[in-house]
Amino acid sequence: MTEEFAGKVALITGSGRGMGLVDALLMAQRGATIVIHDIDPGLAADATRKVAATGATVHTIVCDIADIAAMQAAIAHAEATLGRIDILVNNAGIGLGGTLEGTSEADFDRGFGVHVKGSFFATQAVVPGMKARGGGAIVNISSIWGMTGHHSDSQHCGAKAALLGLTKTWAKELAPWNIRVNAVAPGCVLTEMTVHKGKDYIDDRAKLIPLGRWAQPEEMCEAVVFLASERASFITGQCISPNGGDTIVGI
Ligand SMILES: NC(=O)c1ccc[n+]([C@@H]2O[C@H](COP(=O)([O-])OP(=O)(O)OC[C@H]3O[C@@H](n4cnc5c(N)ncnc54)[C@H](O)[C@@H]3O)[C@@H](O)[C@H]2O)c1
Repeated sequence: MTEEFAGKVALITGSGRGMGLVDALLMAQRGATIVIHDIDPGLAADATRKVAATGATVHTIVCDIADIAAMQAAIAHAEATLGRIDILVNNAGIGLGGTLEGTSEADFDRGFGVHVKGSFFATQAVVPGMKARGGGAIVNISSIWGMTGHHSDSQHCGAKAALLGLTKTWAKELAPWNIRVNAVAPGCVLTEMTVHKGKDYIDDRAKLIPLGRWAQPEEMCEAVVFLASERASFITGQCISPNGGDTIVGI
């Protein structure tokens, strides 16, 4: 076990399961104190147990990230309890899809509320402490669809693209305080969010990926952990897209 996150506190939103939980476990195994957050109390409790089993200190937040007042109050309580928040991973996400004509105003508001507004105001809550302590790392979880677009799901693609815009601007705005802001734009990853689409969809989609398969969550989360770590100390305003070669367009 390396201790590269010793003394650091990492808040990962939507870390009750999936990639957020793997981010939390990887950083816990490398010495971080973890703030688990999820809208689902059962998932949050399970994740808390799994992270605590690594020996890490864990604080738990159960809250809808789109409930801005509740979320900011919960983050302030976590920071007061643990003394600091050094790393924020804006990971909480939902897979609300639909065609342009088939997307309701409620789905649009929910998609942007969770991905964009939720990430925006979670970041607003952690930045004053990071500024006061002289640094921090923020990783926004976008999506390959935020870069390439898709044949449908434009609400989702637009929200994920907005996260890339926030990443670039926050990187410039917060650089004077040594707060680095980067994005990870996952390609196809096997998590609870995607496996329900069924074997035929998974197999057909894999044929379009140069590496010929979907990623395991760990293959995405190593990029998140790298960007959150001091190994990425001169990297800000960038996006890494582990996607098996799906978006090779020229460098
Ligand atoms: N799986 C993929 O192929 C893929 C591809 C591109 C991007 N992503 C993005 O990666 C991130 C993680 O996805 P995943 O595949 O691990 O999904 P997942 O569904 O396994 O996990 C998402 C977690 O977020 C939580 N969550 C959802 N809405 C919330 C809310 N309003 N408040 C608090 N928590 C909430 C869920 O309860 C869940 O625990 C998401 O932002 C997703 O959009 C995933």
